[in-house]
Amino acid sequence: MLVSLRHVPLIINPSTSPQWKECMELAPWMGRHRQDVWRSLDTHGAVLFRGFRASETAYDFSDAMKALGLDSFDASESAAPRTSVAPFVFTANEAPETEVIPFHHEMAQCESPPDVIAFFCEVPPQSKGATPFVSSVQVASFVEWLLPESVKELSERRIRYARTLPAQSDTGSPIGRSWRDTYGPTKDDVEAALSGKGEWTWLENDDLRILSPPRQMFSTDRRGRPTFFNSAVAARKGWKDVRNDPEKSIVYADTCEPLNTEAKMLLDAASHYMDANAVRVQWQAGDLLLLDNQQMLHARDPFTPPRRILASLWGPPLS
Ligand code: FE2
Repeated sequence: MLVSLRHVPLIINPSTSPQWKECMELAPWMGRHRQDVWRSLDTHGAVLFRGFRASETAYDFSDAMKALGLDSFDASESAAPRTSVAPFVFTANEAPETEVIPFHHEMAQCESPPDVIAFFCEVPPQSKGATPFVSSVQVASFVEWLLPESVKELSERRIRYARTLPAQSDTGSPIGRSWRDTYGPTKDDVEAALSGKGEWTWLENDDLRILSPPRQMFSTDRRGRPTFFNSAVAARKGWKDVRNDPEKSIVYADTCEPLNTEAKMLLDAASHYMDANAVRVQWQAGDLLLLDNQQMLHARDPFTPPRRILASLWGPPLS
């Protein structure tokens, strides 16, 4: 069995040893070693499982995640268009292969983001198509060193996310999930779901404009280390479609004015830092990648089809 000495991601690969591989089916192994997996994820922020038996289908992925003993998570507020394919498993963002999905913490624009995000490779890309990830602690440290005054201002004033959702899901957009799929089939369902969770406006064409409650740009992980916990770079670079203008996707929480020049510089510098320092997992069929959503920002590179990556979102360990 190979356990990589590289720290990020920790790679657990039984296929290098025939006698190990014979007895290492993914889901039972996860169940037996769940506490070691939790500890490894906390230590490394990312763990890649490669070369296990019975690690081929969406149901294998689902069984492995259920065996980990994590609290279940309601992903209905996610902005990404997705399709459910097995219990707790859905397609990763279905945006076109030419689209970059910029770095973000999963659902950081929402009230309750998941603790763990898992990805599973059912079909690897013909080329490119990596899932990059980067330490949020390092990004926070970098921007604090580069623009401390702007960090202070953003921490104090906080931000709000603004986004327009279509009535019908638009798979041509990385943020094209419809308000029906997100909140419910009727406008009454939407308004009940959004009550107390920010502001909303119905547009003439039946689109829905939502403004989140105030959100932090920075947070801390379980060990108290500052993190760059937001979806602001993704909003600035990627919330772009026929309904959404990135320049209007983030505002200061106190005045609802667009970000000033220094804050935009901070986001652009953070984006460059992430690109330069990310680890890129080049997918192989059957790979399962666990990311600690408090420690790691993730993204998606463009790819050459076919590529089918599945995702699963979870809360913290149950015990
Ligand atoms: Fe994501």
